[in-house]
Amino acid sequence: MVGYFDDGNSGSSIIRDEKILLPDYLPDELIQRDHELQYIADCIKPLLGKRMPQNLFIHGSSGTGKTTCVRYLIRQLSEQSSSILPVYVNCWENPTQLAIYNKIVEEMRLPLPRRGLAADEIFDKIMQFVKNYKKPILLVLDEMDAIRHEELLYVISRSNEKMLAFGIIGISNNKSLLSKLDQRIRSSLRFSEMEFQAYSEEQLSSILRLRAERALEPASFDEKLLLKIARSVEDGSARVAIERLWKAAKNAEHASKSKIMIQDLEDILSDTSAFKKQELNLSPEESFILELLKSGELGSTELYTLFSKKYDKSKRQIRYYIDSLEQKKLIESNVVESGSTFKSRIFKLMDRK
Ligand SMILES: Nc1ncnc2c1ncn2[C@@H]1O[C@H](COP(=O)(O)OP(=O)(O)O)[C@@H](O)[C@H]1O
Ligand SMILES: [Mg+2]
Repeated sequence: MVGYFDDGNSGSSIIRDEKILLPDYLPDELIQRDHELQYIADCIKPLLGKRMPQNLFIHGSSGTGKTTCVRYLIRQLSEQSSSILPVYVNCWENPTQLAIYNKIVEEMRLPLPRRGLAADEIFDKIMQFVKNYKKPILLVLDEMDAIRHEELLYVISRSNEKMLAFGIIGISNNKSLLSKLDQRIRSSLRFSEMEFQAYSEEQLSSILRLRAERALEPASFDEKLLLKIARSVEDGSARVAIERLWKAAKNAEHASKSKIMIQDLEDILSDTSAFKKQELNLSPEESFILELLKSGELGSTELYTLFSKKYDKSKRQIRYYIDSLEQKKLIESNVVESGSTFKSRIFKLMDRK
């Protein structure tokens, strides 16, 4: 009988544990980021003694380990102490004030009627929790540029005036995000800043090695391959590097090989540009902007108008998407001067290999 559910890979000779290569996997061990991890921990530490923590804004390009480092520390913190409530929120997934409050409530594990409560009512409950349990909240706002209303930050900064309720870690690929925040919020939250630098080829190789040792069969890869993958990554992103290792491993496995060859890497590198975009982790909004620019350059006003037909976002929000695409080097802009004072920008797709 044909076993339709038989997994052709059950005797896999390459991938031993695939989840270790997936983007959301949180490693047991991080390398190359000791300094950053210690700095973040030092910022949080005062919160353990119910003292004002140092709010922190972490920026750096995609794949430099920002999310991983913070999630790693949250895990360590939860194992060590229950005197803080850490709440991790991805703002792409939870962009509104209400969604973020609901995330906090979820972590509080208190039975609250979530439906029908307005945002400020939920916030009151959160403050009640902090007061009753004497537990400050460490709020991590990952992909902070996606937050739809700055109001949230304002409310949080105000709440700390009455009692110590929140420590905040904001994370974004967009370096200039902080300088765009309202002055009131900035002066009240007093973020310190830290940049995650792009990884060098050597650093990427060592990250790849650690991952490969855990996820792959020992004889299925070698140093040359890892170095080659590290070299193929243009922007120092560990995400791209690990994803390439994973895809190359799958490629080799599908061809029933027992070792990943350089050719497997080349096969996936020559794959479609859609694959490249996927690696850059674009939001639907960012992809939509790229779509719009495919047919040619657009001025800011035209771009805003076309974008707003599909998505209901503020102008500033649209600016964030544009900035993010510029940082990822997918689009570029030129200032054009028309008349004496009026300046406008023209956007176009950047030429990519
Ligand atoms: N120092 C590191 N050690 C091990 N793995 C890392 C390290 N830095 C990044 N990674 C891995 O690279 C990928 C991307 O990291 P991530 O934290 O998501 O980057 P960012 O949030 O800066 O875009 C993840 O799979 C993560 O596990
Ligand atoms: Mg991230």
